[in-house]
Amino acid sequence: MLSIGAVVTLYCAATFILNTAYTEGKDLKESCSTCRQITDNFGKGFDRTAKKNFGGGNTAWEERKLSKYETSEIRLVEILEGLCDSSSFECNHMVEEHEEQFETWWFKRKTKHPDLFKWFCIDTIKVCCPKGAFGPDCNACVGGSERPCHGNGACDGDGTRAGHGKCSCNHGYQGEFCLDCIDGYFNEERNDTFSKCTECHASCKTCTGSTNQDCNECKPGWEENEEGACIDLDECSKEPSPCKEDQYCLNTEGSHSCKGTGALSNRMVRYVSLFEKLGVEVTFP
Ligand SMILES: *[C@@H]1O[C@H](CO)[C@@H](O)[C@H](O)[C@H]1NC(C)=O
Repeated sequence: MLSIGAVVTLYCAATFILNTAYTEGKDLKESCSTCRQITDNFGKGFDRTAKKNFGGGNTAWEERKLSKYETSEIRLVEILEGLCDSSSFECNHMVEEHEEQFETWWFKRKTKHPDLFKWFCIDTIKVCCPKGAFGPDCNACVGGSERPCHGNGACDGDGTRAGHGKCSCNHGYQGEFCLDCIDGYFNEERNDTFSKCTECHASCKTCTGSTNQDCNECKPGWEENEEGACIDLDECSKEPSPCKEDQYCLNTEGSHSCKGTGALSNRMVRYVSLFEKLGVEVTFP
């Protein structure tokens, strides 16, 4: 038997491990978005400094100076200075930590690997994955990296070194692969890799098509007619009326409502019903 002390220790250890795993996942996702921000800003800085010194009508001497500036350390430093908001600790930390890598890329890799995001964030410091891949080893998402979740959901950790690659499906879809439809939706198109779920008619609980004749089962408030279509159930024509004696009943699509309280006479109730049918709104003081 385990002592209470042992149970508490085990519980604490389990909580600690779970929390650590959770925070690490969050941190990994954040590192990737920080890195993306940095390389985006690098691109902006690159464009901004490209316009520098271009006044038009450059002399040959100026052209030479310019082409030197283009690949110079000075230009790199100017770009690096604009990568982070001074308030962003994460960003500044990442840039400082990897300043050497930026130099390496700038002077030696830029030509062969022009995509800085890919070279830096994915391949060098390994905080991101290519699109459609997740986790420490950049495995393909469920459904493949071309169309994760078959285009009907989001892959957990997509593009980062975090996550488990599972899908959270868009509304209307369900299942591990986001190919199945939820109740109230039907497969308009479907094969092994593609699925389009469309909403059923309002009268159907489940269905095989988009009209009220394609219901497998009617929703409450609707009933099947002789042609097998789901049509509105007129609750107000039922005996006894679903409303209290001094209320009037208003049928609506798939439902009904009871209106008026207490003091209305039966005649009044009939008039109000009539007005409502004519589309005149009746309010009670
Ligand atoms: C599945 O359907 C989609 C869309 O209609 C189509 O592009 C794709 O080629 C189909 N795949 C197969 C294996 O039939």
